[in-house]
Amino acid sequence: MDVTVVGCGYVGLVTATCLASLGHTVRGVEKDPRKLKTLQDGHCPIFEPGLAELMQENFASGALQFTDNMKEAVHEAEVVFLAVGTPPKPDGTVDMSYLEGAGKEVCDALAEDRQQCMVTIVVKSTVPAGTNRKLYGFLRSQTRAYVQVVSNPEFLREGSAVKDFLEPDRIVVGGESPEAFRMMRRLYDPIIKREETFMTMGWESAELTKYAANTMLAARISFMNEMTILCEHYGADIEDIRKGIGSDARIGPAFLRAGCGYGGSCFPKDVAAMEHISRAAGHESLFVHAIQTTNANQKKRFVDRLISKLGRPIERASIAVWGLAFKADTDDIRESPAIDVIRYLLERGAQVKATDPRAMNNMKAIFGDQVEWHGDPVSAAVETDAVALLTDWPFYSTLPFRKIAATMNQPIIFDGRNCLHRDVMRETGFQYYPMGRPAVEASLRLKARS
Ligand code: UGA
Repeated sequence: MDVTVVGCGYVGLVTATCLASLGHTVRGVEKDPRKLKTLQDGHCPIFEPGLAELMQENFASGALQFTDNMKEAVHEAEVVFLAVGTPPKPDGTVDMSYLEGAGKEVCDALAEDRQQCMVTIVVKSTVPAGTNRKLYGFLRSQTRAYVQVVSNPEFLREGSAVKDFLEPDRIVVGGESPEAFRMMRRLYDPIIKREETFMTMGWESAELTKYAANTMLAARISFMNEMTILCEHYGADIEDIRKGIGSDARIGPAFLRAGCGYGGSCFPKDVAAMEHISRAAGHESLFVHAIQTTNANQKKRFVDRLISKLGRPIERASIAVWGLAFKADTDDIRESPAIDVIRYLLERGAQVKATDPRAMNNMKAIFGDQVEWHGDPVSAAVETDAVALLTDWPFYSTLPFRKIAATMNQPIIFDGRNCLHRDVMRETGFQYYPMGRPAVEASLRLKARS
């Protein structure tokens, strides 16, 4: 099929590339001249595992093209994706101007030469209930082109977006036009393994499905994070509880990992939006509010615990922060727990030495020379009083811990992602504080010294 994707940001580029890899002819529209040049030179402007290779392959074959000319891009299109930003406004509502602007531009371009064949406009953006219906009304009032609007929320995770797109748990399409539903079914045909995974519903249901999914996932994480308080008090292990409840088929094992809080460009924004959506419906959601409060508390709690176990005043302490990205396999620091943790540490007068394999430059833009930056965790830990581990980069579990312990003022690790092995910590001489798990308090090394 002939597909146009308006907006080649994260979602747009993954969508365009994956659809091209399924055999469709895809044109990506990008207005930012620098980004367009990068794309037209065959380079991928974002870091996402597997994306650059797939993009270059389809770009080289001609299945994927990039342009800033909307008229040319939609000339043959049967389906047009709108993958533009819907940033929150200061009052918590969503700024619709990019979506309406892009939709209007598409319709104007279509109206110039095609008024007979139907074009399906697909909204990928996460938008409050009622937005797609409004957009449809707005576009119909603006254009002579024959368009339908469907909502097709994305469920991609950074770091596994290509796999998530090509092997989806489900594809949700919201709208009112059976013809548009059929077109979407045809578009996604190669990746629909079971008919039940392709779901059609009303616009509002599709829109709320997206918020409900992210809010539910965030709620699971906040619940487990709250449980870490009880685990630490009663001497229980959150990992045992995770396995104990996750093996219940009604609960399932995913998104139950406790830690120093969730971050990223989606959960914090979408849960906050859910609270606003509830309020707009006249309902004050205590539940959704609590998910966010627990998440904020968990970051504070992480620092408070570090301060209480440090054994020396935080004002004179030097702390190594391992991991700045909001999760592994990305350079994204949006709403990363590391931002709050570093801020609290600096506010309390600590010296911070930070490192991350990918996200350091992004974090430098926030903290500049308030923080000492290191290219690797080993050098960041030298002469520090504790390590605060905040991102679960897999290579952190295989570091030379004995060597690291020897270079620190005192070997203590606070594991905000529960990703290190307690036995390894004990054997290499660390005091070790995971979250909601038994700590290693009297390490061999400290014993040997006394
Ligand atoms: C999330 C959703 O998982 C996607 O389905 C959705 O499409 C996307 O938001 C979006 O709305 O665009 P993403 O933000 O990329 O994806 O990252 P996740 O893998 O969901 O992780 C979010 C945060 O939760 C991270 O900080 C992560 O460390 C944390 N997390 C995740 C936990 O603390 N515990 C877990 O068990 C899982």
